[in-house]
Amino acid sequence: MVGDADSDIKHYELALAGTRPARPGYVRQSGGLRWHFRAFAGRNRHAVFRNCVADWLNTWRPPTTGLILVGPSGGWCLPTEFLARWAHVLVIDLDPLSPLLLRLRHGLRAETRCADFVEELPRALVDCPTHAVLFANLLGQLSLERDDHEHVRARLKHLLARRHWASFHDRYSADVEPALAIAARPMSDAAPMTPTVLQRLAMAREWVDHGTERVLPPGVSRDYFPWRIVGRRFHWVEAGIVKPEDGLDLSHDA
Ligand SMILES: C[S@@+](CC[C@H](N)C(=O)[O-])C[C@H]1O[C@@H](n2cnc3c(N)ncnc32)[C@H](O)[C@@H]1O
Repeated sequence: MVGDADSDIKHYELALAGTRPARPGYVRQSGGLRWHFRAFAGRNRHAVFRNCVADWLNTWRPPTTGLILVGPSGGWCLPTEFLARWAHVLVIDLDPLSPLLLRLRHGLRAETRCADFVEELPRALVDCPTHAVLFANLLGQLSLERDDHEHVRARLKHLLARRHWASFHDRYSADVEPALAIAARPMSDAAPMTPTVLQRLAMAREWVDHGTERVLPPGVSRDYFPWRIVGRRFHWVEAGIVKPEDGLDLSHDA
């Protein structure tokens, strides 16, 4: 990488100027103790979702030995085999318990930065110039942590244009009859899921849009995983894998 560290970090900047960073903490709306409890209590119900994520991650084989892992929490939905694949893992999460849980549950000894990724990722990209990047189910909850969530999600693919990266994130959520939620099957599409698709599926009338339609560059194929998160609450989680060349022509995208 050419240039001094400060100007490289500037080049990678992700936050909207003047926005306050999220503070690390044990109890947060996007994660922390509440999520650990929910993930542990819901581990049987989450099995279908976990398997979808594991199969999908198994298809992601970027030609790198290092990974920047953003928002893994305790790795409740991540497979040990995937985490064991990398020679070096740099974890960024607001949850101070994340490193301990990743070690206990997966035996993962990662370098960790307990910080807001919007501030930390630019530094991490400079420090780890060839690492791939995985966003582990947090981009659909960014509005809980940051006022500039739309700006950050739109900017990410530009920031990562020369990286191998992947993300799975909430796309839509709703209250759904348990029988319909159980019957839901994973889907793949070349285009983002739209309200028309949701209408055709006829699972619920009102859906929450998690604002992630433009996280992935246009043309990248998408998988959609059904996730019965808690009670009647149901999520469609979008997953996509991006290669450096996918990010090169973003001129028609925000
Ligand atoms: C729903 S959890 C992810 C679940 C996780 N992939 C698993 O397998 O258990 C979301 C995680 O993202 C983290 N997070 C949310 N916003 C963040 C931010 N701006 N920077 C860093 N971490 C963040 C939270 O602390 C939380 O651990």
